[in-house]
Amino acid sequence: MAPFKTAKFKIEGGKPLDGEVCISGAKNAALPILLATILTKDEIVLHNVPDLADVKTSFELLKQLGKQCSYDKNLGTAVISGCVTSKVASYELVKTMRASIMALGPLTAFLGEAAVSLPGGCAIGARPVDLHIKGMKELGADIILDDGYIKAVAPGSERLKGGHINMDKVSVTGTENLMMAATLADGETIIENAALEPEIVDLAKCLRAMGAKIKGDGTSRICIEGVKELHGCEHTVVADRIEAGTYLIAGIATHGIVRCVNTLPSTLDVLLQKLKQANAIIEVDGTTITADMRNRRILPVDIVTAPHPGFPTDMQAQFTVLNSLADGVSSVTETIFENRFMHIAELNRMGAHLEIRGNVVICSGVKMLKGAQVMSSDLRASASLVIAGLAAEGTSIVDRIYHMDRGYEHIEAKIRNLGGTIERIY
Ligand code: UD1
Repeated sequence: MAPFKTAKFKIEGGKPLDGEVCISGAKNAALPILLATILTKDEIVLHNVPDLADVKTSFELLKQLGKQCSYDKNLGTAVISGCVTSKVASYELVKTMRASIMALGPLTAFLGEAAVSLPGGCAIGARPVDLHIKGMKELGADIILDDGYIKAVAPGSERLKGGHINMDKVSVTGTENLMMAATLADGETIIENAALEPEIVDLAKCLRAMGAKIKGDGTSRICIEGVKELHGCEHTVVADRIEAGTYLIAGIATHGIVRCVNTLPSTLDVLLQKLKQANAIIEVDGTTITADMRNRRILPVDIVTAPHPGFPTDMQAQFTVLNSLADGVSSVTETIFENRFMHIAELNRMGAHLEIRGNVVICSGVKMLKGAQVMSSDLRASASLVIAGLAAEGTSIVDRIYHMDRGYEHIEAKIRNLGGTIERIY
């Protein structure tokens, strides 16, 4: 078989998607929660853990650190136990998954020391880690950057101390890293200007089940009272709001009807409002969200990305496909990441009329996209190209889908279940 990284999707588009899709556990909640297991030697049992490349990388990282991990991908259950014995998160793993930076807080809190490689990950701008480092210093860590590694040492190589952290910029993984670090620090920590994302709330829920004392998650001020040690627990990972949003948009872009089950609709408020503005009929019933776009024209909607509860930057690329097919002109403004428009040139190759002006894309809707050969550049960009391929007339080949495997569980099976024609080719 050809190497994994050469895999492509071949998509026959132009057919409305129709059916039900079961939404997986959130990648962006599972990753910090897996790294939170570093904070205890006891057994942690996690449910609804998605079978994703980034999750596998997290298991590899935990194993390198000395943990035992077992994972039943059919059940989505992971069991992690044992004590971390190594303080090093190596370049080989961190370069493939930027979220590994979140090992820094828990490792330093548990072992008193850590050496975490500076990260790689999605090619969406510079993506610095200064806020993580500054926050760790507030918790008493001595930090040096040496040989491509962030080396952190707690006071006396033992325990971090509580601190007052004011995040200069809202950072999701920054908040998570520091929240984890503070659970085992001496005294109280306050994180001001914390991120509000639902994945942070889910991490805090898991940490509380482990015995952590955390208040205020989901608000911009999180208070953590350090405890001596954390213990084992059982936790179910929250539903992936970005995966749900991606399938709803795929249904709308193809003028079909898609029902997403096992979602947490309250985490999707702004997106659902925007989908309604795009003229979709959106129905929410418990944990099920249905988008019906049969025989309806797509209306243009202006989008500005913002930290939660604003419009998620992780939905920007997918929504741009809708605007590409809308009846009129709209704008998409990206305020979180620079260089997150690499899908635009590819969508234009499929017949879209999109023009980049600084951090804004002007979308002049066209009647139809046309199948083409296109290249993924990051995780969410690849999702947008798959949606465009499903909506387009003819055949599309989406290259470099290893990006998509990082964040979407069982993509082909889920799309085929909705009546889409997609095949993995090498
Ligand atoms: C997380 C998500 C990612 C999502 C992003 C924004 C995970 C694993 N990833 O990424 O899917 O797109 O939130 O919702 O949860 N920044 C700094 N210094 C830092 C850290 C961040 O300047 O130390 C800047 C970034 O460059 C960016 C902004 O802060 O402009 C927000 O980034 P951040 O929230 O940290 O993104 P991630 O946590 O990496």
